[in-house]
Amino acid sequence: MKLMIINGPNLNLLGVREPGIYGSSSMESCLRQLRETYGDRVDIEYYQSNHEGDIIDTLHRAGMSGEYAGIVLNAGAYTHTSLAIADAISAIRTPVVEVHISNVHAREAIRHTSLISPVCRGVIAGFGLDSYRLGVEALIHG
Ligand code: DQA
Repeated sequence: MKLMIINGPNLNLLGVREPGIYGSSSMESCLRQLRETYGDRVDIEYYQSNHEGDIIDTLHRAGMSGEYAGIVLNAGAYTHTSLAIADAISAIRTPVVEVHISNVHAREAIRHTSLISPVCRGVIAGFGLDSYRLGVEALIHG
């Protein structure tokens, strides 16, 4: 089975960006661990962009290809603002799990609203980089 992990804006800085909130591990080490754990069963592809349109294009490409059993999406701050990303998720049939490293509900009020939650299969937030593993588990188990 093939899964895609998509990270949105500023998540290329994981490990150095606000370590008190997002931890000090990089996405590369998270991906290495995920591939070590699931590599024999799951092909995990990764894409990161700071640009809304590129994230939408990638959702379309992955979703329309029929190649992926699911998508783990951390849309970063676009979670709270992007109706366009919500529409892209609605447009594809591939299930999308929304993930957040931090517990967005324990943070500023603006982060309590997600425009994408209603069109995602489910939401995982607050478990640090382990949120991605939980997202992968959710898609494996279905
Ligand atoms: C985030 C939470 C968002 O509010 C924030 O803008 C991010 C990261 C998280 O993973 O906790 O960039 O999605």
